[in-house]
Amino acid sequence: MTHPLLHAHLIAKRFGEKRVLDGVSIHIRPGEIVSLIGPSGCGKSTLLRIVAGLDDAYDGTVKLGGKAVANPSERVGIMFQEPRLLPWLSVEQNVTFIAGGKRDKDGYAIRLLNEVGLAGRERAWPKELSGGMAQRAALARALYTRPDLLLLDEPFSAVDALTRMRLQTLLLSMTAAHGTAALVVTHDLDEALFLSDRIYLMAAEPGRIVDSFDIDLKRPRDRAVPELARWRHRLLAELDAHSTTLPTPTAHQTA
Ligand SMILES: Nc1ncnc2c1ncn2[C@@H]1O[C@H](COP(=O)(O)OP(=O)(O)O)[C@@H](O)[C@H]1O
Ligand SMILES: [Mg+2]
Repeated sequence: MTHPLLHAHLIAKRFGEKRVLDGVSIHIRPGEIVSLIGPSGCGKSTLLRIVAGLDDAYDGTVKLGGKAVANPSERVGIMFQEPRLLPWLSVEQNVTFIAGGKRDKDGYAIRLLNEVGLAGRERAWPKELSGGMAQRAALARALYTRPDLLLLDEPFSAVDALTRMRLQTLLLSMTAAHGTAALVVTHDLDEALFLSDRIYLMAAEPGRIVDSFDIDLKRPRDRAVPELARWRHRLLAELDAHSTTLPTPTAHQTA
């Protein structure tokens, strides 16, 4: 087995009296795409913030490349549901700003913008971009520091279905081209199945990992293959079995 790039073992994370994460262990090897799925409030974003080095108040260990994660680092890129572009900076300046505005001597921002399909938009203002284009810019920005790991918190939830599929394909081609691993939080089983080498399933109260699935299908994946439909069925059943928020309908309710 390749040495893990990320190894996170959280014994507990509390907010006040509330134990939000309890016994969460995940690993990611270099270049792997790993998804986290689970109900709202099970601690997915909390886990991502810890891995990003944005929250160090927990019991456990988080190691990236063998070193303890203590602060945000250039080795980790982040993308959220909203693009979070600064409106007073051009698209290119938004990309380079992430590295503290250091001068981009080798034109790397422009190259990344070309790769994500934004050639010619370098000088545009964020408000001139569609939602999908703004997420492309956010992806270029997340890759600008040449991270080993991208963290994505429901990155494509706010765009339409076709744009979402295009962005998923783009994420796969960008991570493959740059050798970047990714940890993707998503609510969407089909998205997790299309993207992932491994899927961790979480449950809530307290937030914990209940199972993990290695999706051993080569890429590019055809979204319509029966194997994916079988995986979907299995994961839905697991999600259902661990769901405490939705009551299981009884026979007379569904009749
Ligand atoms: N800063 C915070 N202070 C107190 N409670 C929080 C804070 N952030 C998250 N929580 C709580 O922790 C739990 C997990 O939240 P979160 O990680 O956002 O879940 P998810 O991303 O899976 O929807 C929720 O019950 C949420 O209310
Ligand atoms: Mg969240």
